Amino acid sequence: MDINTRVEQIGVVPVIKLNNPERDAAPLAKALCAGGVPIAEVTFRAAGADTAIKLMKEACPEMLCGAGTVMTTEHIDKAIAAGAEFIVTPGFDPELVAYCQEKGIAIYPGCTTPTDYHAAYKFGLKVLKFFPAEQSGGLAKIKAMSAPFPMFKVMPTGGISLKNLKDYIKCPVICACGGSYMVTADLIDNGKWDEITALCRQSVEIVKEARNNG
Ligand code: 3PG
Repeated sequence: MDINTRVEQIGVVPVIKLNNPERDAAPLAKALCAGGVPIAEVTFRAAGADTAIKLMKEACPEMLCGAGTVMTTEHIDKAIAAGAEFIVTPGFDPELVAYCQEKGIAIYPGCTTPTDYHAAYKFGLKVLKFFPAEQSGGLAKIKAMSAPFPMFKVMPTGGISLKNLKDYIKCPVICACGGSYMVTADLIDNGKWDEITALCRQSVEIVKEARNNG
């Protein structure tokens, strides 16, 4: 199964910032997998993102781990060396997209405008991160953008929570929703692993229900 299909199947992507990967990466990976969300976008907002990816993959080899907030080719090299399977960038940077394609790793660049989508089209991308989703026009904008650009599926992140997850995931253009609501700093720093698992389970239920019942 290709990576885009795996992301779509899971349906939610926790966006993670880990300040203490040695302490938190393994229990966090286990908490996500226990909740039915074997995927993580580990952001380079914290310096040790590559260490976190490596430790999460070691703890849960079945998990799909990607790197987020990727800003440079050095980040991409570090992420690949750590075992990352996809790269997420906040905006559209053609140099980073080309570099990922050269290295053979999936890239989901942040896109919210027709100009971004045009640029992504030139690179033959199929899945885009729509970021920041709520602040950029939310569902209405995602739907409007899909009229001229039906070739893309999007992964909105930014402002998604248990409250609006169902509305987003019901939209056929959306393959998965990203967010930090199930992996907040409070939950991670205080080791609230059971709560993280519970939030993942709730999210998976919402995705399942939305996909089954529309
Ligand atoms: C991201 O990088 O995808 C966002 O910061 C996540 O947004 P959220 O914190 O509003 O979920």
